[in-house]
Amino acid sequence: MPPPDTAVSSYPPLNVQVHTPRLSLLGATDALLERLVPTVRKGVATEPPWPFDDPMSLYEDEPDRTWAWLRRVWAGRGRVDDNFWRLYFVVVVDGQAVGMQDLIGSDFATFGTVTTFSWLDPDLRGRGLGKEMRHAILHLAFDGIGAREAGSDAFFDNQASNRVSQALGYERNGIDRATRRGEAAELLRWRITREQWAKGRRDDITLAGVAECLPVLGIPSPA
Ligand SMILES: CC(C)(COP(=O)(O)OP(=O)(O)OC[C@H]1O[C@@H](n2cnc3c(N)ncnc32)[C@H](O)[C@@H]1OP(=O)(O)O)[C@@H](O)C(=O)NCCC(=O)NCCS
Repeated sequence: MPPPDTAVSSYPPLNVQVHTPRLSLLGATDALLERLVPTVRKGVATEPPWPFDDPMSLYEDEPDRTWAWLRRVWAGRGRVDDNFWRLYFVVVVDGQAVGMQDLIGSDFATFGTVTTFSWLDPDLRGRGLGKEMRHAILHLAFDGIGAREAGSDAFFDNQASNRVSQALGYERNGIDRATRRGEAAELLRWRITREQWAKGRRDDITLAGVAECLPVLGIPSPA
């Protein structure tokens, strides 16, 4: 019998995988989430500048943080309609669960638009993994799911996230505002179109389990 986190699920979104030479994004099964719990307990956002907009489970104190984080993932997995779906992935490097990278369809049926969300173990930041995770999720969005445009927002002082978007060829798309731990702050908005992504498309990223996932999200299979 395979280990629990590689077992095939009867819910296709949990079987989706993206592989790059440096890391894998694996559909976030409960077994994989469990492997992230020590990092969540240690803390993902522990000092300013705070990276996440409210409400955010990862800002809570333990043990509520872990419980709230799990509940948010479970609730997010359970909502799928034309206006919203969210695929949660655990980032795995050298067999270790090190973070999350999500793909969110927002008005996907109408506009083909997605956004992304990610976090990485604080001990592993600044080594290029953030860029690699974004390459991987954009490959899934554009090549696997047929997205037309991907967006990303980050607080003005989140240098790593803004730099990831810039480095991958996103263009600025105005500003927005949100609160973080109750304080208002400006977000920089970024977007990348399918055409822009195609210019830097990588040939060393592979996808698995996508065709079986499309009907779950209400996306017609490519002809
Ligand atoms: C955002 C995040 C996933 C990026 O991952 P990462 O591995 O740290 O990023 P990378 O190492 O790939 O670096 C990406 C770029 O940002 C730069 N960078 C990284 N950390 C930086 C920092 N603290 N200050 C300035 N630049 C930074 C890198 O030099 C690199 O730029 P380059 O392309 O010019 O070389 C990670 O930092 C993280 O988990 N942050 C907290 C959660 C978060 O902000 N999530 C996003 C919410 S919108």
